[in-house]
Amino acid sequence: MSCPMNNSQDYEQLGAEEGMIYGEYLMLDKILNAQRMLSARSNRPVHDEHLFIVIHQAYELWFKQIIYELDSIRYLFTSSLEESQTLEILKRLQRIVLILKVLVDQVMILETMTPLDFMEFRGYLRPASGFQSMQFRLLENKLGVRKEHRVKYNQDYNVVFGDDKDCINEIEKSETEPALTDVVQKWLERTPGLELDGFNFWGKFKEAVQELLKTDREAAEKETNKRIRAFKLKDLEQREEIYESVFNPDVHQALVHRGERRFSHKALQGSIMITFYRDEPRFSQPHQILSLLMDIDSLITKWRYNHVLMVQRMIGSSQLGTGGSSGYHYLRSTLSDRYKVFVDLFNLSTFLIPRSYIPPLTDDIRSQLSLTWGVKNKRRENGESKNVDSR
Ligand code: HEM
Repeated sequence: MSCPMNNSQDYEQLGAEEGMIYGEYLMLDKILNAQRMLSARSNRPVHDEHLFIVIHQAYELWFKQIIYELDSIRYLFTSSLEESQTLEILKRLQRIVLILKVLVDQVMILETMTPLDFMEFRGYLRPASGFQSMQFRLLENKLGVRKEHRVKYNQDYNVVFGDDKDCINEIEKSETEPALTDVVQKWLERTPGLELDGFNFWGKFKEAVQELLKTDREAAEKETNKRIRAFKLKDLEQREEIYESVFNPDVHQALVHRGERRFSHKALQGSIMITFYRDEPRFSQPHQILSLLMDIDSLITKWRYNHVLMVQRMIGSSQLGTGGSSGYHYLRSTLSDRYKVFVDLFNLSTFLIPRSYIPPLTDDIRSQLSLTWGVKNKRRENGESKNVDSR
């Protein structure tokens, strides 16, 4: 790799090695010598084992990069967040999304291997299994998949990782640190406009919903066709129940308790507000962030789905996995919403109301939300930071 820098002495002081070439910089001696085909030990090496190893290694490298980005994003969210950082968060989330797209598609490459080819070397793998991928667990934990939401299979790390204490410690640590979903919720709870003594979005939204439901009830009661009337009233009843679940904090909490909702009540309010007023300059980037968070959940679900289809193609649906699970059936159960960290963002659409009912912004909040990064910065330089929130 050619070095465009002039002051080579500085770089040497920073630890660069003189005369280092491409392979040394990338430590290719390690990476390219790490494909140990177990079938080659017999006198019948299996051609496809090479692909099987390389593809897993490629996955692990990309997992590493995703974790690296995730850690930095979690840090940015917890430091005092400025608009310039929001842009950096957006950039890194976008990167994760693009990597995940590659990971979803990569499954197809392994599907060029036939089940018969796989059978020829599968025996050598036991008891190794993707179930023991520490990085995959870290990735899930750092996003916010909780132990209590997981399918009850081999939750005992000592059984899965054996004597590897470092690995167990690292996974346990990732379960106690704030995950991406936690820091995102804290950030959403600070959404400008939620203050009760300010714009009071929640109070206004509640009034708008009551108005909407009242209008719809009047229209339903005027309906002369009995069947249509009954249908409309039933539908209304259901919608009233849904809104009760979001306006009544106790009902919301009960749903969180049952694992059907994950966000705190305030974070949910913030995300609804951002969704409604996403055209305001201040909410444009937060809205994109919410969208990318859903992309991450979707893509991981798509990966799980592609993986489970491949597993069925390779070993069918009744063989146990090399890690000892029920194989196909275990993996299929991980496709549920329990593994979606941002499930509340997906379900936001349930609470949306027609544009004409969205509470209009007051001049005050409109001017707050119209602030761009430059304006905010200038104000701060002029010592006017008191009125500007730290979102
Ligand atoms: C022939 C190809 C593959 C087969 C037959 C296969 C099979 C399985 C099975 C049966 C499991 C369930 C655990 C067990 O009992 O072993 C599993 C889990 C897993 N596999 Fe694969 N796998 C394949 C390829 C891959 C690849 C390319 C990756 C990429 C990293 C991967 C990553 C994982 C992960 C992360 C899990 C844990 C999933 C979870 O617990 O939610 N697998 N695999």
